[in-house]
Amino acid sequence: DWTPAAFVEETIARIKAQVGDKKVIMALSGGVDSTVAAELIHKAIGSNLYCIFVDNGLLRKDEFELVLESYKHMGLNVKGVNAKDLFYGKLDGVSDPEQKRKIIGGLFIDVFTSEAAQLQNIAFLGQGTIYPDVIESVSVNGPSATIKSHHNVGGLPEKMNMGLVEPLRFLFKDEVRRVGREIGISETFLGRHPFPGPGLAIRILGAITADKVKMLQEADAIYQEALKEDQLYDKVWQAGTILLPVQSVGVMGDERTYEFTVALRAVTSTDGMTADWAHLPYEFLAKVSNEIINRVRGINRVVYDISSKPPATIEWE
Ligand code: XMP
Repeated sequence: DWTPAAFVEETIARIKAQVGDKKVIMALSGGVDSTVAAELIHKAIGSNLYCIFVDNGLLRKDEFELVLESYKHMGLNVKGVNAKDLFYGKLDGVSDPEQKRKIIGGLFIDVFTSEAAQLQNIAFLGQGTIYPDVIESVSVNGPSATIKSHHNVGGLPEKMNMGLVEPLRFLFKDEVRRVGREIGISETFLGRHPFPGPGLAIRILGAITADKVKMLQEADAIYQEALKEDQLYDKVWQAGTILLPVQSVGVMGDERTYEFTVALRAVTSTDGMTADWAHLPYEFLAKVSNEIINRVRGINRVVYDISSKPPATIEWE
């Protein structure tokens, strides 16, 4: 019978045997998988695991600082890399969704490999790959092609020419959470919603600017906070805000406004492959809408996305 405790014990022993006294480098994303994988490797080899956490400027509000702090608190040997300007620069004027993904994936590899090059004698690349990723990457490479290219860092192992350490390769998401719980990772990590690798770039329709990121981060933070406050966060698979490239007329005091719209998205799902729009209470939506419009400059309209997947996708890009 599979148990988290036995898995942890065996996995730590296996990593020790595989890696010995060599060094491993690994990118952290703030998500469940990379965090659990890193902590397992850390338990096996301690500070011979070198973690890199990149700020691409497309994370949620304050996320980079908070998550970096938690990693340090866990005792991980982690370096935070501020690469915001690099990402904003290369994304300047780009509105095509797949182009955004390509640029972000490519830059991430550049930043990560240049960090790796500064370290001596790294023999392995750690990754938080889980079983569904393994299956999906087989089908993604097939003739049916991609609907969206989700593999932000595909190609990293080939580029790095290193051995791979992938402790979660045969686990499903719920097993990863159980393992995480077993090794003491906090519920704030384990209960997190999925968040796409390209981050807010694919939630800002059209070209990305630092100002738009800021606007969306503020609106998103209000939404996330409210979901937690009203105990709705754990009832949905994923929730996010989308900044639309549409301005519409509003009124504020005696002034006419002409500002942006955000769409709120929340879905229920078991695996992200299909999803229903979440039937959030009207009072809740009303509260969030008011708060966003009153508090976030540049937004004068909020709408709720009532599309299910398929035929819509969870993200808008
Ligand atoms: P869609 O929009 O395809 O999303 O219904 C399904 C799940 O995948 C996430 N997603 C991504 N994750 N890189 C990622 O790491 C991506 O490019 C990407 N696109 C979508 C999405 O947030 C949802 O959980």
